[in-house]
Amino acid sequence: MSQVFVFKDYGGPEGQQLVERDAPTPGPGEIAIEVRAAGVNPADWKRREGVFGTRGTLPAAMGLEASGVVTGVGEGVEDFAVGDEVLGAPARGLGAFAAHTVLKASESVAKPEEISFTDAAAIPIAGTAAYDLTHQVEIEPGQTLLVLGAGGGVGLMALQIAKVHQFRAIGVASESKRDLVEATGAAFVPSGEGVAERVRALAADGVDLLADLVGGDALRELAPLAKEPSVIVSAADGETAVELGGAGRERSEGVLGKIAGVVQYGLVDPHVVRTYPLEQAAEALAEVESGHTRGKIVIIP
Ligand SMILES: NC(=O)c1ccc[n+]([C@@H]2O[C@H](COP(=O)([O-])OP(=O)(O)OC[C@H]3O[C@@H](n4cnc5c(N)ncnc54)[C@H](OP(=O)(O)O)[C@@H]3O)[C@@H](O)[C@H]2O)c1
Repeated sequence: MSQVFVFKDYGGPEGQQLVERDAPTPGPGEIAIEVRAAGVNPADWKRREGVFGTRGTLPAAMGLEASGVVTGVGEGVEDFAVGDEVLGAPARGLGAFAAHTVLKASESVAKPEEISFTDAAAIPIAGTAAYDLTHQVEIEPGQTLLVLGAGGGVGLMALQIAKVHQFRAIGVASESKRDLVEATGAAFVPSGEGVAERVRALAADGVDLLADLVGGDALRELAPLAKEPSVIVSAADGETAVELGGAGRERSEGVLGKIAGVVQYGLVDPHVVRTYPLEQAAEALAEVESGHTRGKIVIIP
């Protein structure tokens, strides 16, 4: 038997529980892994709350990104073998907060040995989102990227990617995250009342790309700073971004391998701020659900 963290009902955290299941076996195009680490994301609690719908089979295994060691390969899988170290996205809702799971081979890559399992587990969701948001609208070195929600898991990686490309980066986050944002080389602007004027003071002509990780009114307030509405991209609130003339996050081809490469060469640090054992998955989720995480939270089975 093998442990997995699930939610039994759509709604609050009270429906979450650690249960036993048979270690899942890989189907065609899948690989089974012994999980070494699993990243926690806002999407985990949003899924539990029913934000993405309430039609999934319950109980539902939680966790959307993992790293681990391959224990079995399904039919038709040629790129992976037993013993390989990998990172990727769980298949068939089998979850990442688990001792064992199954990944889609097409959404997995080999884990470079320079990357720890813990850091690797922060790449499939947060890392790919940071990569896509900073590339979805092409900008040149010296042009300005504004990141709203800059102190969280995705935001910190987006700012580091900006440095690689020599964009002029501005990060909006709460005052407590000034040190984190400035450590990436970005200019820091505190969130809260008057934020648009503070950004305007640094970018009088507006910004060339606005990457949003917050959405709602916070995005609406900063949207007029975008040089054109079409340079607004949001991972948090695609609906509002589209309404403003921008777009939601679009997944690009091969993005997992690209961001893994950038992390491998030490250009981006996923900034895992805390790890929790699987037995404390509820505490790990609660920390992310607070909405004020400093970097990434990772669960270690
Ligand atoms: N579409 C996708 O594929 C995709 C992929 C990954 C993530 N996402 C979404 O992107 C968002 C960010 O994800 P994440 O993993 O980075 O979350 P996170 O680690 O929880 O970070 C969110 C950050 O937002 C900040 N924040 C909240 N309100 C703010 C405001 N008014 N102004 C400035 N900052 C504010 C928080 O910091 P403060 O304490 O400083 O406020 C926190 O650091 C989430 O909505 C997530 O669901 C989408």
